[in-house]
Amino acid sequence: MSAQQQDIPVLKTGSQLRQPLSPDGIPASVLVIDDNPSKLKALVAIISRMGLDVTTASSGREALRLLLKQDFAVILLDVKMPVMDGFETATLIHGRPRSAHTPIIFITAEADSDSDRFHGYTMGAVDYIFSPIMPEVLCAKVRVFVDLFYLQRKLILQTDELRQSKQLLHQLASHQEWIKEEERKRIAREIHDELGQNLLALRIDASMLHARTGTMHPKLNEKAQYALNQIDATIKSVRAIINDLRPPVLDLGLQAAIEWQIEEFRRRCGIACDIVVENEDFDSGLDEKSATALFRILQESLTNVMRHAKATQVQVELNRNAVCLYMRITDNGIGLNQDVGKKGKTFGLQGIKERIRMLDGELKIDSAPRKGTSLTISIPLS
Ligand SMILES: Nc1ncnc2c1ncn2[C@@H]1O[C@H](COP(=O)(O)OP(=O)(O)OP(=O)(O)O)[C@@H](O)[C@H]1O
Ligand SMILES: [Mg+2]
Repeated sequence: MSAQQQDIPVLKTGSQLRQPLSPDGIPASVLVIDDNPSKLKALVAIISRMGLDVTTASSGREALRLLLKQDFAVILLDVKMPVMDGFETATLIHGRPRSAHTPIIFITAEADSDSDRFHGYTMGAVDYIFSPIMPEVLCAKVRVFVDLFYLQRKLILQTDELRQSKQLLHQLASHQEWIKEEERKRIAREIHDELGQNLLALRIDASMLHARTGTMHPKLNEKAQYALNQIDATIKSVRAIINDLRPPVLDLGLQAAIEWQIEEFRRRCGIACDIVVENEDFDSGLDEKSATALFRILQESLTNVMRHAKATQVQVELNRNAVCLYMRITDNGIGLNQDVGKKGKTFGLQGIKERIRMLDGELKIDSAPRKGTSLTISIPLS
């Protein structure tokens, strides 16, 4: 047995330490660099018992080649090697972006001076192991870095899981939004076709009754007039319900629906509201999903103006170029509160952002105290 082999006692079964637990079952890789084959073999034997994947290199150059292809949890590096010593190898390892942060444990003789050790730390060593090597010490040190590596891997896995579930949530929200819109459309159509038609037939009958009774049956005539008024009021309510569910004007295109909504806004809250359309064909070729989403965004923005802005003037600008469609809603009100979004349980602006995200668009909010608020929405035209 060589002197170096004697340096490395065999690990006793009873003294084995807890094995690091890989979060995905894939063992971490450890790179051992040493020019002495028997020392290399003994080190591999000790580390393999920790359930780790061990790769060996007999020179700094070979190690650098391996590091181009693979990531390691920790590197065990012999200080005294011919051609390229441990210090030089460590400097080159940490000089590369891929291995810049891989921890290096230097293996060196106990007899080496303190200044050598200090030099090692400045070269990027994170720890030392002294010959003769105690397997327990070696395993404990390697385990610390493997634990850290596994923790990092666990974080990456969890971040990935979080990203995936967030993406799923967005998809679910988008799907539900679309189902909701389709359902609103169906109910609006059914109300229109069933209730609307029946009310119309009823009105014709009541109107006929009213005309025929005339002066001959004044009491009946009065009743018929009352029924006519009731039917008219009901037709009005039904129309309002249909419009609330989904304005039929949306079938004429987004611009027409926006104009109708603005007119409704002026009528309902008495705030001056202008519309500026820069392009004649603002909404040409726009698909139904995008048109409905932009319409709902406008509705929520105008509701916000009515509820919060204390504005006297609102402007809605519609514009498009070859790649994008723009809608800007500007008011001259009090401006957004500093802590907007921190209140929780408010979903208007959140819903606007979500709808824009679904269309791969962007939202820009400009606001200053008493200088009003401006929401600019841009949607890419596919
Ligand atoms: N145009 C605006 N001018 C001034 N403040 C606004 C305007 N729009 C929104 N805000 C402020 O931003 C907050 C968040 O708006 P958001 O629409 O998200 O919620 P909300 O209107 O309070 O409730 P809801 O969930 O019913 O929409 C509002 O509470 C209000 O303080
Ligand atoms: Mg709101």
